[in-house]
Amino acid sequence: MTETQDTWRKAEETKAFLMERVPNFNPRIGIVLGSGLGQFARRIEVNATIPYGDIPHFRPTSVAGHPGNLIFGTLAGHQIVCQQGRYHYYEGHSISETIFPIRVMKALGVETLIVSNAAGGINLDFRKGDIMLIRDQINFQGTNPLIGPNAAEFGPRFPDMTHAFDPEYAEAMLAVAKEMGITLKQGVYISVTGPSYETPAEIRMFRAWGADAVGMSTANEVIAANHCGMRVLGLSCISNEAAGITDEKLSHDDVGDVVSRMSERFESLVEAWVKAR
Ligand code: 6GU
Repeated sequence: MTETQDTWRKAEETKAFLMERVPNFNPRIGIVLGSGLGQFARRIEVNATIPYGDIPHFRPTSVAGHPGNLIFGTLAGHQIVCQQGRYHYYEGHSISETIFPIRVMKALGVETLIVSNAAGGINLDFRKGDIMLIRDQINFQGTNPLIGPNAAEFGPRFPDMTHAFDPEYAEAMLAVAKEMGITLKQGVYISVTGPSYETPAEIRMFRAWGADAVGMSTANEVIAANHCGMRVLGLSCISNEAAGITDEKLSHDDVGDVVSRMSERFESLVEAWVKAR
């Protein structure tokens, strides 16, 4: 059996397990919550919260302050499945392990993926506490989650990435934000492996490349989602200015604190967007 057939079989096995745990549930919307955004769960009428460690073919999570649960429930009248905590490449998981939950969501019938993250602001117009609507991404992780024999059950060998973030979804989010009196920033997210933060020189380079915010997640999931035909909406919570913009040093604890304080605004935006669907 090739590795790709194995991925498909594993996703089907995980799906069977989940459908037994949460019967008669057909989420069409998947949500990936970034660092500090786990409180989003309070917006969900929860049917089931399943720790990653209990789920076949899911890896237990490791990072302090990152919970790892798959949550099934209803948000604004829509059935959803939500990753409360994600896998990062810097934790030592293989890239295929970091995107496996996306493939399981696809197997479950998810068509719409909402991704979120904490990110450092590169754009000089961005301030700590801003929310950026992700319009495009730069995958600078140095690899690609689709390397290897193509998992043809999920999608094509050479997936198009012209509209990696769905333009119609983005416009709908802008409309929802406007209605709520929230001004969204917009821009390009660049994904690096971490875990070290960037140097000021790297940040200047990324700015010259057209990046507006930087983080250590999301891009691989968005590639996997596009591969299997999902439409994607993305939001970055700007937790700090990236290196060299201010004299402040970067700390993961500060990132978590700032994002937690932004969570309510983020949650309201996502809930209103889903409601409008
Ligand atoms: Cl400045 N860099 C990276 N790589 N990730 C971040 C960040 C910066 N701020 C929040 N997450």
